Amino acid sequence: MLVRFRLRQRWLKWVGVFVSAIVFAIALAHTLSSSESISAADSTSTVTSNQSSTQLLEPSSLQAQAKYDRQLAHYGTVSRRDGSFRQMFIDQTSIAALQPGEPLPNGALIVMETWYSPDNAGAVFIKQKQGGEWRYGSFNPDRPDYQMSFSGSCHRCHAPFPDTDYTLTKPLLEAALRTQQVQTAYCDRAGRTPCAPEAYLPEASPEAS
Ligand code: HEC
Repeated sequence: MLVRFRLRQRWLKWVGVFVSAIVFAIALAHTLSSSESISAADSTSTVTSNQSSTQLLEPSSLQAQAKYDRQLAHYGTVSRRDGSFRQMFIDQTSIAALQPGEPLPNGALIVMETWYSPDNAGAVFIKQKQGGEWRYGSFNPDRPDYQMSFSGSCHRCHAPFPDTDYTLTKPLLEAALRTQQVQTAYCDRAGRTPCAPEAYLPEASPEAS
C-alpha cells in the first residue's frame, strides 16, 4: 500500500515537472513572438507616418493656389527611392487651353518643387512654352524669378520624351485634370535620372486603367 502510494507520488511529481516545462515553453514562445510583432508594428507605423506626411502635402482635388507670385495648381508628385520627391504645378490660365493628347499650349508654365524630405525643400525648377519652344529656369523657393531661356543642359534629359511634348509628367497632368485629383508616380532611380515613360503614368487613377 505504502509502496504504491510512493510510486504514485513520484509519478505525480514527474507530471508536475512535465507540465511546468510545457508552460515555460509556451511562455517563452509567446515572449519571442510578441517581441517579433512589436518590431513588425514598428515598421508598419513608419510606413503609415510616411504616408500621412505625403498626404498632408497633397490636397485631394486640383485647386489653384497662390504660390511663388502665381496661381498654380498642384497636379502631380513623383517620389524617388531615397525619400526625395518633386511636386509639379501648372499655371491656372493654361488649364482651360489644355487638350489631352495634344502638345501643351503656348504660354503653359510648369513649376516643379524639389523636396529632399518632407521638411527640406530645394530649388524650384520652371519651364514655359514660348513661341512653340520650351524655355527653362530655376529659383530659390523664397525668391521667385521667372527669367527663362533656351537651355540645352536642361533640355538634355527632357529631349528623349517627344511623345509627351518633352514633359515627362504630362500623363500625370492630363489624368489630374480628368479626375480632379493630384496624381502620384514613383521613379526607382537615384537623383534626377529620368525613368522610362511608363513610370510617369498615373499610379492610382481608376480612369487610367
Ligand atoms: C538629369 C536629367 C534632368 C535634367 C538635366 C533636367 N531635368 Fe527636368 N526633369 C527630369 C525628370 C526625370 C523629370 C520628371 C520628374 C522626376 O522623375 O523626378 C523632370 C521634370 C521637370 C519639370 C516638370 C515638368 C516635366 O517636364 O515633367 C520641370 C519644370 C523641369 N524638369 C525643369 C527643368 C529645368 C529648368 C532644368 C534645367 C535647370 C531641368 N529640368 C533639367 C530630369 C532632368
